[in-house]
Amino acid sequence: MPVANKRRLILAAVKARQGAVAPYSKFKVGAALLTESGEIITGANVESASYGLTCCAERVALFKALTGGRRGFVAVAVVARLTGGATPCGACRQLLSEYAPDAVVWVADSRKLRQVREFSVKELLPAAFAEVP
Ligand code: THU
Repeated sequence: MPVANKRRLILAAVKARQGAVAPYSKFKVGAALLTESGEIITGANVESASYGLTCCAERVALFKALTGGRRGFVAVAVVARLTGGATPCGACRQLLSEYAPDAVVWVADSRKLRQVREFSVKELLPAAFAEVP
């Protein structure tokens, strides 16, 4: 994966993070997906007063991308103000394993954007549940 793509995707996640709606936790997260054709689709977390309804940035980006007809995701970047960056939660890992199984996951702290940790989706969710027979 070219370094330029990593930088571009991280910066897209930084920008997307500005759209976070996080009045309860105040923890803003931005996510950006890269398709094999080079398109970027972004999302940010949206919280609810009924806390459990909150949707993470990764899922917002994924749902936008999927409902916009995009497939073939090669990378996802996640940016939050957290030491080492925020790795996707379990629910997001499940959806990533279904719709972006071969993607690289880049996470970065919004204060240290040049320090990017890299994971594969398979590493984040080994032995994932795949489909109902
Ligand atoms: N959150 C994300 O958007 N992505 C993550 O990877 C971790 C958590 C959001 C959900 C909630 O709005 C806030 O961060 C605190 O958990």
